[in-house]
Amino acid sequence: MAERTQVAIIGAGPSGLLLSQLLDLAGIDTVVLERRSRDYVLGRVRAGVLEEGMVRLLREAGVAERLDREGLVHDGIEIGWNDRLQRIDLKALTGASVVVYGQTEVTRDLMAAREARGGRVIHEAQDVALRDIDSTRPRVTWVEDGHPRALDCDWIAGCDGFHGISRASIPEGTLREYERVYPFGWLGLLSDTPPVSSELIYMHHDRGFALCSQRSTTRSRYYLQCSLAEHLYEWPDERFWAELARRLPPQIAARLETGPSIEKSIAPLRSYVAEPMRWHRLLLCGDAAHIVPPTGAKGLNLAASDVFYAHRALAAACLGGDMAGIESYSADCLRRVWKAERFSWWMTSLLHSFPDDGPFAAKIQAAELDYLLGSPALQESLAENYVGLPY
Ligand code: APR
Ligand code: PHB
Repeated sequence: MAERTQVAIIGAGPSGLLLSQLLDLAGIDTVVLERRSRDYVLGRVRAGVLEEGMVRLLREAGVAERLDREGLVHDGIEIGWNDRLQRIDLKALTGASVVVYGQTEVTRDLMAAREARGGRVIHEAQDVALRDIDSTRPRVTWVEDGHPRALDCDWIAGCDGFHGISRASIPEGTLREYERVYPFGWLGLLSDTPPVSSELIYMHHDRGFALCSQRSTTRSRYYLQCSLAEHLYEWPDERFWAELARRLPPQIAARLETGPSIEKSIAPLRSYVAEPMRWHRLLLCGDAAHIVPPTGAKGLNLAASDVFYAHRALAAACLGGDMAGIESYSADCLRRVWKAERFSWWMTSLLHSFPDDGPFAAKIQAAELDYLLGSPALQESLAENYVGLPY
C-alpha cells in the first residue's frame, strides 16, 4: 500500500525545506523527496544575501536563531565604475538592510529544524515521478534503496530547481517560457581571507564586471565576469587575484588580501520564467519556475517569497478547503518574480561588458552609470529593489 501525506514536496533545497517547515508548523503533514545526499546538497556554494522579508519568514519558521547571531547586517553596498566608487546607503534610502548569511547555512539550519521536528525528508530518492497531477488524488513514485515506493497526496510542491522533474511533468504546450541567456559567465572564488571591504562592492570595469562579497569576517567570495569558452584550469588562483585587483579601484586593490582558493567555479547567467506557476495540483516554487542572473542576489529571496505564498495557499486549502490562495498563487508570485527579473536584468546589463553590442550601447551604459553614481533618485530605486520589494 502507498504511504499518504497532505503535501508531497519535491526537492530539499531551501524552497522545499522551508515550505515543509512552515506547513508542519501550520499542522500539515509533508514528505520531502530529494534526489541527492545531504552532503551533496550542503556542498553547493551559492549566494548569501537575505532580504528582510526572507529573514522575517525564517524567524516565523523558527530557524533564525543562528542567523540572528552570525548573520552580518549590511546597511549599504558599493557600486564602482572604473576608479569611481559610490556607496548606496540602503538603510538611509529605504529604512531596511540586508543580511549576509550563506545559502548553505540557511539549508543546514532548515535540515536541523526538520530533523528536530521529526519531519520526513528522504534523500537519494531516485527516479522521482509525478502522476495524476490533474486529478484530486495525485501520486508520487520513486525508487529508494533499490525498492519502488509510492506516496498518495493532496498537493505536490515542485521545489526541485531549474533541472528538476516537476516543471518537466507539465504537459508540453501548457507553459509559456521567457528566457534570456547572457553571453558571459561568472568565475567565482571562495577563500579564507578577510573580505577586502566590510560591504559588498559591485564593479563595472572596462575589463569586465567584478564582485567582492563575503561569507563571514574571515571568508571572502569574489566573482569575475568571464567568457563562457574559458575553463577553470586556465584560471589558477594567481591569475584570478591579479585580474580581480586590476578591476578594482587602486585604493581597494591595495588592501586586497589573497590566499589559496577553497572553491572555484564558472556559472552561466540566465533569466528565465515559466508561466503559470501552478498546474492543477502542482505548485512550482523557486528555481523550478524561474532563474535570475545573480547580479541582484535575488534567486534565494524569490524562492522565499514563492514559499510564503505557497504555504499560505496550501494551509488554507488543506485546513479549511479555502482555494482562493491556490487560485491566485501563480499571479501572486509572478507579480513579484517579474519585478525581481527586471531588477536582476537591469543590474546585469548595467554592470557587465557587452563588447558585441557596439559603441552606441557602450555609450548609453556609461551614461547610465554616470547617472546612477550622481543621482539620489536612481540610487533610491536601486536600494528599494536591492533590499526587496514587499510581499
Ligand atoms: N527529484 C528530487 N529532487 C530533485 C530532482 C528530482 N528529479 N531534481 C532536482 N532535485 C533537487 C536538487 O538536488 C536540489 O537539492 O531539488 C533541489 C532544488 O534546490 P535548489 O536548486 O537549491 O532550488 P531552490 O530550493 O528553489 O532554491 C533556490 O537556489 O539555485 C539557487 O539561486 C537559487 O538561491 C536560489 C535557490
Ligand atoms: C555571493 O556572496 O555569492 C553573492 C553576493 C551578491 C550577489 C551574488 C552573489 O549579487
